Amino acid sequence: MNIMKLRSAKSVRGIVNMPGDKSISHRAAMFAAIADGETRIDNFSRAVDCHTTLDAVESLGICVQRNGTTITINGKGKTGLTAPFDAIDCGNSGTTIRLISGILAGQTFDSVLTGDESLAKRPMKRIIEPLRMIGAKIEAENDRVPIDIYGGRRLAGRGHKMLIASAQVKSCILLAGLYADGKTTVVEPVVTRDHTERMLRWFGVDVDEEFSETGKSISVDGSSVLTANDLSIPADISSAAFFLVAAACLPDSEITMPNVGLNPSRNAIIDVLRRFGADIAVQNERVVCNEPVCDLVVRSIEERESGDDSNIVRGDVIANIIDEIPILAVLGTQIEGGLAIRDADELRVKESNRIASIVENLRRMGAAVEEFPDGFRVERSHLKGASIDSFGDHRIAMAFAVAALFADGETEISGAECADISFPGFFETLASVVKSVAPARFLGREGCKRF
Ligand code: S3P
Repeated sequence: MNIMKLRSAKSVRGIVNMPGDKSISHRAAMFAAIADGETRIDNFSRAVDCHTTLDAVESLGICVQRNGTTITINGKGKTGLTAPFDAIDCGNSGTTIRLISGILAGQTFDSVLTGDESLAKRPMKRIIEPLRMIGAKIEAENDRVPIDIYGGRRLAGRGHKMLIASAQVKSCILLAGLYADGKTTVVEPVVTRDHTERMLRWFGVDVDEEFSETGKSISVDGSSVLTANDLSIPADISSAAFFLVAAACLPDSEITMPNVGLNPSRNAIIDVLRRFGADIAVQNERVVCNEPVCDLVVRSIEERESGDDSNIVRGDVIANIIDEIPILAVLGTQIEGGLAIRDADELRVKESNRIASIVENLRRMGAAVEEFPDGFRVERSHLKGASIDSFGDHRIAMAFAVAALFADGETEISGAECADISFPGFFETLASVVKSVAPARFLGREGCKRF
């Protein structure tokens, strides 16, 4: 376990490149594997999770060439995958296991999916049940990993109403739908990230989308084929969020992040931050490979809006900002009126129980915080340096690294290496923009081998 030591910063300034979007990279790897022909993917994420997905598709007989962030995948078509020799290790990655399950349910061979301690605690019933409903044969004790998926089953397309807002579950069902007889339709009452829909279209699949008062319905047909198509992945807005909050809260700060994904199902973090006074400019908006992209410039909040009881974020927007809530909790300690997050019980089944991890670490830093089953309220607080536990959760480690910049004294983050799960080089990138009150305020790592 590695410890990262950080101290307060005076300001943050610079131009920084965020890693390729994690959600989009996972999909690019999987969809290219089941497309006909060679796909070159530029700016593929260096995140450990995304390389777990690359390993998974390799174990299914797909040739993957890795050249830094350029990945070339020789797709063999929907039915070209071959049986893995061993269990497929999905590591820490919920997106890998949930999406690939949809593909594996439609194969002729059997497969077993495993994962690490954190993944073993995460709920899989949400994908097992809908896959069984279309005819898949799946066994998993207590609906947890390891998951056995049996091949050679005939899948039948049907309609599914989403009971929880989850893009991973939606994507799993749509991918299985590519192997089912007829049409598969998913209805989501709350809109979740739509990278699957956009990228299936990029690979030539007809994806039907309709909006009604019951929500958004998305349909694919089992006769669809994917055709290789080179693509370039935007920078990850969820990674950018840490820098948006750091620059918004520290005086005399300005950070530019080029080429950031601005997908409407992911970009509510910008509106939420603006609502609390953040100065964020969205520049050079464009569309790259079916995904909206822009350059983001964030500057310090000059005059913080005076807050009131309405500093509460809840309802349908939660699905859009689900990965940004740890860093929003840190923002809450810095704004007038604090911040409450509700309707976010899904956070309890992420890489850690994120509500508990946030509340525990905020308290260690001296913040006044109240925990609810579905969220928390944090008051504007004077933070002090503390010993922080990452709980093995990348977004907790990175959120509290930013909190350390606002805190008096030194903060130690244990298990800081887990930031690699979504953002290898995060601490170096943060150090590169920190303008310290005194030299060497960013003390860097101790006993760390992997950075
Ligand atoms: C993801 C969807 C979200 C998100 C996760 C990535 C995806 O999870 O939290 O980090 O790539 O589809 P859920 O769909 O389970 O909410």
